[in-house]
Amino acid sequence: MALTRADIELFLKTLKEISTYDLSDYSENSLKRRIEKLLLDNNTNLQGLIYKISSNKQFVEKIVRDITVNTTELFRDVKTWHKIRYRILPKLAHLEKINILHAGCSSGQEVFSMLILLNELNLFDKTNVYATDLNSEMIEKSKKGLYKFRFNLNYLDNYDKVIKENPFNFDEIRDVPYENYFHIDKDLDIIKMKDFLIKKPTYAVSDLVKNENKFYKKYDLILCRNVLIYFNNDLQNRVLINFHSLLNDNGFIVVGVHERILGEAEEKFIKKSTFYIKK
Ligand SMILES: C[S@@+](CC[C@H](N)C(=O)[O-])C[C@H]1O[C@@H](n2cnc3c(N)ncnc32)[C@H](O)[C@@H]1O
Repeated sequence: MALTRADIELFLKTLKEISTYDLSDYSENSLKRRIEKLLLDNNTNLQGLIYKISSNKQFVEKIVRDITVNTTELFRDVKTWHKIRYRILPKLAHLEKINILHAGCSSGQEVFSMLILLNELNLFDKTNVYATDLNSEMIEKSKKGLYKFRFNLNYLDNYDKVIKENPFNFDEIRDVPYENYFHIDKDLDIIKMKDFLIKKPTYAVSDLVKNENKFYKKYDLILCRNVLIYFNNDLQNRVLINFHSLLNDNGFIVVGVHERILGEAEEKFIKKSTFYIKK
């Protein structure tokens, strides 16, 4: 069923009235695709969907989860992690304390990537790592640090490229066994993060639409990757201007490889490929 703009507006208005979720400033194309898929998956039409969200709170949570994509991986976009390793974290190393925020952390693989890297660079103890997501189920998954193995073999490949290999000297291989950071059980088909990593981050459910600062902190580095892409330009700008106010001087923002800071927020940051520095 092809939805019109009026259909989408009606769905969003109902969702806003009956829940705390306001998706009105999400990108229209992505919303349209997602809601159309929901209608197919639930074998219903728009009226049916609206009736169901109005009468079933659990269904609302499920629908919002289905609309907000959760795809992620360990050391996703290896080149970005090279930048974090060689160009961002060394610039923060002199600080007495480092505060890092992962906004839209999904099931936590991005957070564990950071924790592993911090440990490799001897910055683990002096860094506070905070992470948020709209979706409470994703936060609970992050807290467990437990992932499927066979489905995620690329995690090991990414780890090798960021942790074991040196992109500036391919002859150099660092001997950093996976067991330093996670346990792989092939029979149970799991990857389990080590306890010292699991215990480190502070998590909160938080909605970027609401410009919250759940931890009452200022940050030296904010990662908000593959989240802005689902927002329209207005919301992207509001979120980025809020991040600007949450950053310490010369703080960094890392966005996804397909994301850019544009519009009003652009002049507040110096662009360095996929990362930005607060002006
Ligand atoms: C595609 S995942 C990205 C995960 C990770 N940052 C990465 O790049 O691999 C997008 C995440 O953003 C979250 N999200 C979507 N809208 C949000 C909002 N308004 N506030 C906070 N998180 C949101 C989703 O729940 C999802 O977990």
